[in-house]
Amino acid sequence: MTKSLEKYIFTINWNDELILGVEEIDNQHRKLADAVNENYKLYTTPTSENVLIEAMDKLINLFANHFDKEYEILEKYDVSNKEEQLEDHEKILSELCEIRTQESMPVLVKVIFINQILLYYLKEHLLKEDKESIMEIKAKRANS
Ligand SMILES: [Fe+2]
Ligand SMILES: [Fe+2]
Repeated sequence: MTKSLEKYIFTINWNDELILGVEEIDNQHRKLADAVNENYKLYTTPTSENVLIEAMDKLINLFANHFDKEYEILEKYDVSNKEEQLEDHEKILSELCEIRTQESMPVLVKVIFINQILLYYLKEHLLKEDKESIMEIKAKRANS
């Protein structure tokens, strides 16, 4: 696999399209993207199991935290897709926890699976559900 294809699969390139216009949410998304990208070097260098577990837990907590904070804002503005958001966030979290607790799966595979799910969040969910919510929040803020 070429280096650029590998990077495309395992990381996210932060760009203007991902900045949705509500600063507190954008800042969190940026931090999530940085954290996911940071994990990339764990697959490419020899890493101990403990470091992998620590990185995996840190990432799960970071996303769980973001989901809570994002939902608080969605509730505050009572956006119309907030239930859909909640459902998607919960689905993602339960998948992460399911992978994390799989006994037969090697830790490195867990880390890669978890990173892929989080990349789905950043590459798909962010541009659909989050974007929809944020457009509504921006409209509501402009009218208040
Ligand atoms: Fe989000
Ligand atoms: Fe979301």
